[in-house]
Formats: sequence, C-alpha cells, structure tokens
Amino acid sequence: MREIEQLLRRRERHPQPGPPPQAANFVLLGNPVGHSLSPLMHNKALQAMQIAGSYTAFCVSDLAAAVAGIRGLNIRGASVTIPFKTAVMEYLDEIDADAAAVGAVNTIVNDRGRLTGCNTDWLGFIQALGDKIDVAGKTFVIIGAGGAARAAAFGIRKMGGTVIILNRTEAKGKALAREFDGPFYPLTAVGKIKADVLINTTSVGMYPNIHQSPVAQAALAHYETVVDVIYNPLATRLLRDAAAERRRTISGLEMFVRQGAAQLKLWTGKDAPLALMRETVRERLAPYEM
Ligand code: ATR
Repeated sequence: MREIEQLLRRRERHPQPGPPPQAANFVLLGNPVGHSLSPLMHNKALQAMQIAGSYTAFCVSDLAAAVAGIRGLNIRGASVTIPFKTAVMEYLDEIDADAAAVGAVNTIVNDRGRLTGCNTDWLGFIQALGDKIDVAGKTFVIIGAGGAARAAAFGIRKMGGTVIILNRTEAKGKALAREFDGPFYPLTAVGKIKADVLINTTSVGMYPNIHQSPVAQAALAHYETVVDVIYNPLATRLLRDAAAERRRTISGLEMFVRQGAAQLKLWTGKDAPLALMRETVRERLAPYEM
C-alpha cells in the first residue's frame, strides 16, 4: 500500500506527458526498392516539417496484400514505384483525374480507409521544366514509351506543348503518340528531327550503366535543351554529351525532388522543404559523380 502511495506521489511530482501526436506513417511500395532515395529524402523532410512519423520502403511480393496493409495499419500515404504504378490502380477506391489520364499512380492518399490514387510524376516533371523553359508552344521529342514517357507527354500537352514520340518498340510508341496527338518515329530518327527539347525517359545511362547514352552526341546539336529523367548519376552520359554540344541541360534530380514534395503536400497539406530535400539527395549522389 505504502509503495503505491509513494508511486502516486512520485507521479504527481513528475506528470506524464500527454498522448503523442497522431502518427503519420508512409511507405514506398516497389520491387526492388533497395536503391531508392525516397526514404532518405522523405524522412529528412518529415523531420524538418515536425511531423511525427516515418517513411519506410517495402519490397512487395503481394500487391493486393500490401494495399490492404495500408488500410489495416492506418498508413497515411504511400509512394508506388516500378513495377506497380499501373497494377496498383485496381486495388484503390478512387483514381484522380490526372492519374487516370496519365494511366499510372505513384501516390496513394489514405483518408480514413478510403484510398485515392494520384500522380505527382507529371507535376514534378513540369515544375522542373518550368524552372528553365516555357513549355507552351514548344516541341518535345520524347524517347521511350513507358510510364515516365506517359507522365511527360501528359504534362507537356496540359501545358500547351506538342510531343513527338521515339521508341524502340513501334507498337508501344505508336499507341502513346496517338493518345497524346503526336507523330511516332523509330529511334534512328533522333538525328534527323529538329525540336526545342529532347527528353530521355528510358533507363539507358542509369547507374551502373553510366557510360551508355540513348542518343549519339552529334544528334544533340538539333535540340536547344536536353532533359534526362534519370537522377542517378546526376550528370548522365547524355547530359555530359549535351553540355559538350553547348546545349542547355536539365537533370532528373529536380523532377524527383518535386514529385516527392508534391506527395508530401497531398499527404500532410503542408509545403515541403524543397531546398533541404534537393541537398539531401544531391549530397548522397555526389560521391558517385565522376
Ligand atoms: P518507366 O515506367 O520507368 O518509363 P518502362 O515502362 O519499363 O519504365 O519503360 C521503359 C521505356 O524505355 C520503354 O519505352 C523501353 O522501350 P520498349 O518500349 O521498346 O521496351 C525503353 N527502353 C528501355 N531500355 C531501352 C534500351 N536499351 N534501348 C531503347 N529503349 C529502351
């Protein structure tokens, strides 16, 4: 009895803290996810935003079960990456208009168990481009016809630009070109076309294949600006060749950071610390630069 009284008295002297703030946890669903820089970038941002919670990457073996886990664990938001950006759509309650038009979801928002699929890839892409060039009225040659190409084409059309699609596989390239009102040409046409901007959306040149480029250097002189959606390495072979041709270059870093910041805005309603996120990713990648 005496011991309990002592304990209670001690508790009065040292009041217990109140309940912790509502946790806001986030996940990345992909396969593989080992090399993703999203956990590093998002956790740094969450800390700076004073949001109690964490962002964790999961290598998914069962997509339906993983999405059920978002509901069951009250996960506030998820990023979705390769190879699930399209496959995940059927497990969600709602797809917003932009994600439906892009045909891919890279962001899930959980509102009390109701899951909405969104796409911030196109927004990140357009914001990164918008920092350096005016999209309206310009012509963009897009190399590739996968998810990244779709996000780029959607963003460019939305902002009043026109697209030309170049792809290794004709059927896939033609389908994308038709959808976004542009012509299709085989990859070999890259040296014959002249346009304002050339965009690589393929994985050619990505770490560890850092000496590869999807386009021969001489062809780059036909384009004012050269964009690579790859951010690892920061300076891809394509961008280094473009710089040697004195072209303006835009790396995938800014697109990656912007799509992440747009995710944080959707999940928390708050503006993300862009500069901190950019520096966090840049610092991690810098040691690998040549
Ligand atoms: P993401 O969703 O990241 O865009 P994806 O759907 O796999 O990835 O698309 C990759 C694109 O890069 C495809 O258009 C692919 O060309 P195919 O349609 O012919 O498959 C293109 N790609 C990938 N590796 C390539 C290579 N070595 N040469 C040319 N194109 C390549």
